[in-house]
Amino acid sequence: MSDAIESILQEDRKFVPPAEFTANALISSEEQYQQMWQLGKDDPEKFWGDLAKEELEWFQPFDSVMEGDMPDTKWFQGGKINASYQCLDQHLTTWRKNKAALIWEGEPGETRTLTYQELHREVCKFASVLDQLGVEKGDRVTIYMPMIPELAIAMLACARVGATHSIIFGGFSADAISDRNNDAQSKLVITADGGWRRGKEIALKSTVDESLEKSSSVEKVVVVRRTGGDIEMVPDRDYWWHDLMENASADREATPLDSEHPLFILYTSGSTGKPKGVLHTTAGYMLGTKMSSKWVFDYKDEDTYWCTADIGWVTGHSYIIYGPLANGVTSVMYEGAPNWPDEGRFWEVVEKYRVNIFYTAPTAIRAFIKWGDQWPQKYDLSSLRLLGSVGEPINPEAWMWYHKLIGGERCPIVDTWWQTETGGIMISPLPGVTPAKPGSCTKPLPGVVPAIVNEEGKELEANQGGLLVMTQPWPHMLRTLYGDHERFIETYFSKFDGKYYFAGDGARKDEDGYYWIMGRVDDVLNVSGHRLSTMEIESALVSHDLVAEAAVVGYPHDLKGEGICCFVIPKGDIPIDEVKNTLIKHVRHQIGAIATPDQIRFTPALPKTRSGKIMRRLLKDIAAGRENNQDTSTLEDQSILEKLRQEG
Ligand code: WT7
Repeated sequence: MSDAIESILQEDRKFVPPAEFTANALISSEEQYQQMWQLGKDDPEKFWGDLAKEELEWFQPFDSVMEGDMPDTKWFQGGKINASYQCLDQHLTTWRKNKAALIWEGEPGETRTLTYQELHREVCKFASVLDQLGVEKGDRVTIYMPMIPELAIAMLACARVGATHSIIFGGFSADAISDRNNDAQSKLVITADGGWRRGKEIALKSTVDESLEKSSSVEKVVVVRRTGGDIEMVPDRDYWWHDLMENASADREATPLDSEHPLFILYTSGSTGKPKGVLHTTAGYMLGTKMSSKWVFDYKDEDTYWCTADIGWVTGHSYIIYGPLANGVTSVMYEGAPNWPDEGRFWEVVEKYRVNIFYTAPTAIRAFIKWGDQWPQKYDLSSLRLLGSVGEPINPEAWMWYHKLIGGERCPIVDTWWQTETGGIMISPLPGVTPAKPGSCTKPLPGVVPAIVNEEGKELEANQGGLLVMTQPWPHMLRTLYGDHERFIETYFSKFDGKYYFAGDGARKDEDGYYWIMGRVDDVLNVSGHRLSTMEIESALVSHDLVAEAAVVGYPHDLKGEGICCFVIPKGDIPIDEVKNTLIKHVRHQIGAIATPDQIRFTPALPKTRSGKIMRRLLKDIAAGRENNQDTSTLEDQSILEKLRQEG
């Protein structure tokens, strides 16, 4: 068996950026990109050092750009800086002070706009509240909130006083919160009574109460009144946000912090074991998110930009708050679900605010496809100029739908590859420069130097699938896994003896230097000695008219080593058995006999994490007929597994 993951996906379509887009783009030619990229590769100190001087506001300039090799590179040592200052104060001396920083839309339909000046005032006040509550520089603060403006205010206030925030997505359980509180030794929890999701109240405060039975480090809780639901307030522990804010001083300077001061911890699930507390620091992270969002989203001052992620995930941290606000952009924040009160809600929001740049995830796009074209068609989407995708590979068919139905065939699509650990976008088209190929995240951003290598760390030739690594450090990379530096080194750096950062993804690079992500390496199949990408088989299935969504996993197979099991969500009601054969033939036709599915199983839904990622390891157990003994705490809907088992 060869080391290479065989690529079986044929995709030859190419979409060149519209001339008008290119003419107005910040990076507007291949030469300009090449020059920047080459400098970032050959002289990262000069490349990142110049940008840090030009683009960030320093209380005290740094002495050195980078010190030390991976895994422990230190950036901008000697400098003093503050992330909330980058996002807010610096705009107040410009015309932007009265520009909308955040446009918020609640699920029930209320709206609130905060200008940079107003947001600054709220953040200063809440920073004063944190002072009063005894939160000090270096303390950890847990934030467990719905998507409301107070969430943004809380995180920026933490940054202002130098407290490290640990945001936990509002869908997590009490146990998940106490695990994270304990791991981070959080002193304070900021939450709300509840939040709205599909018209129902999601209780948050009562979940926090339960978590606190097992989190002894937490001393106090601040509660925002959002839904007005009934909650218990524990005297001398729980405080209402509005009470604390009433007399808080709006005069609260940003604390000058070291470049490497920890800005936030964000927990992300590993394939095994307890969640990993990814730690990001201040200066490098701010530079990375500022530059990547400026290059990739090509912000114009008049733009309205909407990233639909939840701030509980890294996408929301980097591309709703830190990146856009550092650039002085207007960022839309929406509280609720895409299908409430109906499946047109996102498009209604686009029409209402005349959104120009829209950034979402393939899992959402596949849901829109399933809900039908009539929803986007009902709304005026002509304000859109640029579309983005993040989170998993976007199947070419989903890309085409996004391009046609949402982008009106006029908007470039930026398929952005990155991770919680990378802090910001790493591989992505530049919308005015890079011709897109559906399904490829295209080329590395300036300052990012990836490679595709085999298990021995040897670089592979074009079109050979292998392991995706980063060969150079970058300013916004994670610094450690909180409290477990050994696990950090083991997880990301041990595979290639500390030389490369290993992302855990399989990928190939084509003859034009375009990267094609093939999914996590744990998802790679080995069929008769051929390593196949589950994602490519999924794309083939989804390209059939009768398929809405598909997940492919391997299972032990006597002859082939691994057999191919496909879980398929059909579009509408269809006679099952005939269709199975049709789909098997379709995959054979699309990819070849090597990828012939051994099993097709129809299902109304797939097991997903709350962030929308298919949990393939659970499907693997079902395909193999094994009992599940894995951690299912991040599974969104527990009943799905039972249904899938019965189908089998
Ligand atoms: C993993 C990281 C980055 C924010 C959201 C997810 C997959 C992410 C893409 C893309 C193909 C992608 C990778 C990566 N992924 N973006 N554009 N194309 N795959 O963050 O939870 O840390 O997950 O998501 O497998 O390793 P995350």
